[in-house]
Amino acid sequence: MSDTLNIPLLFSAVTQEDDYANLMFEKIHHQKVIQWNTDQQKNYLAYHADESIDLEGFHQPIASNLVNVFSKKYIGHMTGPVPPIVYHLNKVELTLNQNLVKFETSGSGTPFEKNVLTYFHKAFFQKPEAFYQKQPTCGVFTNGGTISNITAIQYALNDAFKAQDIKKIGLKKCLDETGYKNMVVIGSPMTHYSVKKALRLLGLGDDAFIAFDADKIDAENRQQLLEEKINLLRAENYFVLAIIGIAGTTESGEIDDLDGMATVARKMGIHFHVDAAFGGAFILSDVHAPKLKGIEKADTVSLCGHKNLYMPIGTSMLLCANPQLLEASEINSSYQARKMSVDLGKYTIEGTRKFSSFVIGNIIEKWGKGVFEEVLNNNVTTAQRFANLLHSDNFELYKEPVLNIVLYRFIPTHLSDAAQNSNLSDADNEEINQLNEQLQQIQFEHGSSFVSHTKLKKMAQKPAQVWLRAVFMNPFTTPKDLTEIIQEQLEIGQSLTK
Ligand SMILES: Cc1ncc(COP(=O)(O)O)c(C=O)c1O
Repeated sequence: MSDTLNIPLLFSAVTQEDDYANLMFEKIHHQKVIQWNTDQQKNYLAYHADESIDLEGFHQPIASNLVNVFSKKYIGHMTGPVPPIVYHLNKVELTLNQNLVKFETSGSGTPFEKNVLTYFHKAFFQKPEAFYQKQPTCGVFTNGGTISNITAIQYALNDAFKAQDIKKIGLKKCLDETGYKNMVVIGSPMTHYSVKKALRLLGLGDDAFIAFDADKIDAENRQQLLEEKINLLRAENYFVLAIIGIAGTTESGEIDDLDGMATVARKMGIHFHVDAAFGGAFILSDVHAPKLKGIEKADTVSLCGHKNLYMPIGTSMLLCANPQLLEASEINSSYQARKMSVDLGKYTIEGTRKFSSFVIGNIIEKWGKGVFEEVLNNNVTTAQRFANLLHSDNFELYKEPVLNIVLYRFIPTHLSDAAQNSNLSDADNEEINQLNEQLQQIQFEHGSSFVSHTKLKKMAQKPAQVWLRAVFMNPFTTPKDLTEIIQEQLEIGQSLTK
């Protein structure tokens, strides 16, 4: 098998785009307050663009202790290499220093951001063109998946109790007035912990998250059981605010039965939020988008550009199927975010916000979705190739990968028959857990490759097991790298069981 890879366009598009960055610098020079153009400001921009500033003394001690997330053998987390074109565009974005909280500090940045949100809204919800002409905005940019999920819950809440004027009287009074004991949200046990952060912010606590283990139930009964669970909660006077589906779980990259969850949510009049922070990017891949079936029926979708789309950290979105949802959460002040203004600060949890849509918007404008599709498809192929290499006596695969995450564990030779016959005792599993934790730590300390680890249940009836977790985010990881990583793990595992 050849070990040379073609460089994807997203990563090769740099030298020809240097001119583009310069052109953007030029453009900003020729504008005033919104179009300003003074020599002083020109000098200011030139100073910031100067590559020759000597930062040696500052960055040397730091550099030697950072994690090389660019390494082809760094396959442990959702953070990967930054394409060179992103440096250039990010530098421009930083230099422009637009503040997207309002039009008066961002000018054309505000409609630009709305256009980028529209682009992604179309990808997920595919509404007719006329729909997009009358919307104030189809969503908001946020600093991360966490803020997107918190925003989704806030929007759902303000919408659910708008008749009671929740924005004024607050949740407690709304629950009292409507006769509910408390409020809960329901989702898979794999739901990202940011949802609990949202519930804590609302003062509801972690108990307000109700786990529904859809994955362990066969498809036919899943919807019925979910309905029964909701009816039970309602019978006990709980207000069920939202059902949360995941498109690409943090731990394993699996995708919930979004279609089934959407059907129940609609039938029972509950907000359906899909956390697609990790997996939502695959909507841009013709090959993998069908795996997200049902996402088009969501009320809100979280998506992170800084995960599978290689954007700078801080490029996330919350998209609203029906933008009226945003209006239910609008907040105004007299100096900005005024009632009829176009200011995006009316809808965001954050105030001052950088121009996060700038880099991703420019890349889409220039190359379209194909530039992302190429790397997304490549990463899933690499994950599948890696999973194939693990079909051996000394490894157990958690499941075949759905996207670009592979979970697996090292199995010592004396337990490989029992593992293959699903005959491991709890004591065997505990031995394997400890071995895998040690193995992962030793590999990390060796420093030539990195795979993370997590703990979850493959079989509902067994205690949770430790799994090695490989996230394929680097399009330069070659088949040879994969074999070397596995070989290193095999050697460490065997040395631990001698
Ligand atoms: C499914 C999912 N949702 C939300 C988040 C939170 O995203 P962020 O770290 O950008 O806040 C993550 C992060 O890993 C995630 O995997």
